[in-house]
Amino acid sequence: MIESFFDLQSVKLFRGLSKVINAHGANIFLVGGAVRDLLLGKTPTDVDIAVIGDVISLIPIIRDNFFCKVIKTQPELKTARIDFENHICIDFASTRRELYGEKKGIPVPSHFGCSLKDDVLRRDFTVNALAISLNSYNFGQLIDFVGGQKDLENKVLRVLHDNSFNDDPTRIIRAFKFAHRLGFKIEEHTQELQDKYLQNKNYNEVVSPMRIKKEMYDVFSIKYVEIIKDFVDKGIYKVMTDKINDIDLYKAKQIIYDYNITENIPYIYFMSLFFREENFPIIRQFNLTKQEVKVIHDVKFATALEGKLSDIDIYRIYSSRTKESLAIELLLKENANIKRYLEKLADVKIEIAGEDLFMLGVPESSMFSTIFDKVMEEKIKGNLPDKSSELRFVRQLLLNHEV
Ligand code: CTP
Repeated sequence: MIESFFDLQSVKLFRGLSKVINAHGANIFLVGGAVRDLLLGKTPTDVDIAVIGDVISLIPIIRDNFFCKVIKTQPELKTARIDFENHICIDFASTRRELYGEKKGIPVPSHFGCSLKDDVLRRDFTVNALAISLNSYNFGQLIDFVGGQKDLENKVLRVLHDNSFNDDPTRIIRAFKFAHRLGFKIEEHTQELQDKYLQNKNYNEVVSPMRIKKEMYDVFSIKYVEIIKDFVDKGIYKVMTDKINDIDLYKAKQIIYDYNITENIPYIYFMSLFFREENFPIIRQFNLTKQEVKVIHDVKFATALEGKLSDIDIYRIYSSRTKESLAIELLLKENANIKRYLEKLADVKIEIAGEDLFMLGVPESSMFSTIFDKVMEEKIKGNLPDKSSELRFVRQLLLNHEV
């Protein structure tokens, strides 16, 4: 089975790893989503290997025996990400148990190097709790402690124990994600546990923002709009908040594709649903990228400019804004000026650059922005179709001492 879904180089690497690691008294197993995907006939995207042994002390041994680069280690979690030849990237983790406490979705690890069974029992769904041995003595053997193979055949998502969603509520988002991505059904008792958790939801409890962010982005990356409607209808957002915006998904889809704002689609959907004062504390915890912070800032401090504005004023106001923030603002509230900007003005670009102005003898760079603004004004009117007409226009401005 392994041979049919991984390329020859990966299989050779797995065999080589088992030889070296087994010789040092540790055992290794392919685990998690990779096994699920293999059994479903898909090529896995991530490769997770559980090690019955100490990953950190194995790193020098792996380094000595393979051409590889250690990308990241987390000694406190005994994990390491290693990049091997041919871009094969593997996440190694010592087997462990996990205890969940106050902070939901943030387990406290214990018993590193425990049995594979204990490691498997800490996981979310039976279909994600399968393992394949990579050890020399039984390479390729499927190990199923929890009936995962049968659930996989029946396309069923089933938690391993009744406290699973209390331990880690982000598993509710994961169930939703897998149900949509793989076409699986949530098993009846698992559904009851989910309903119970959401009905009794305590919004004061802390749920791991980083896990939520990852799962939300995964969900909203699934490329059809109906998933967001289902996300709202099924109340999955209650994992995070009881208040969500009502957005018109078909309009959202249109804005995103018509105006070519396709770069941060998951983010646009997420923000459009969650962007409201009450949810800022949740959003802020998300370890946002600089770009994401700018988008939020732009939407939050956007002044409502609803009266009819001239094209150049619209351009002046919106051209410094990220397109994502405009899409979000437009989804939250109809705004003819933003529409006009996205439809007609966002792609208008001046062709001349600073060096052209120097060549024309503009003495000070402090004059540049005034000149560019005047060029843009004419360009938006449709009077400057190409670079040479822009240059002519600037020459005229200079001759007439208009700058
Ligand atoms: N896992 C879990 N609970 C979570 C997240 C992950 O039990 N909240 C376990 C599951 O066994 C999962 C494994 O950790 O298979 C790896 O996590 P991740 O890479 O996030 O999940 P995948 O199943 O690989 O999902 P995806 O295909 O979306 O990456």
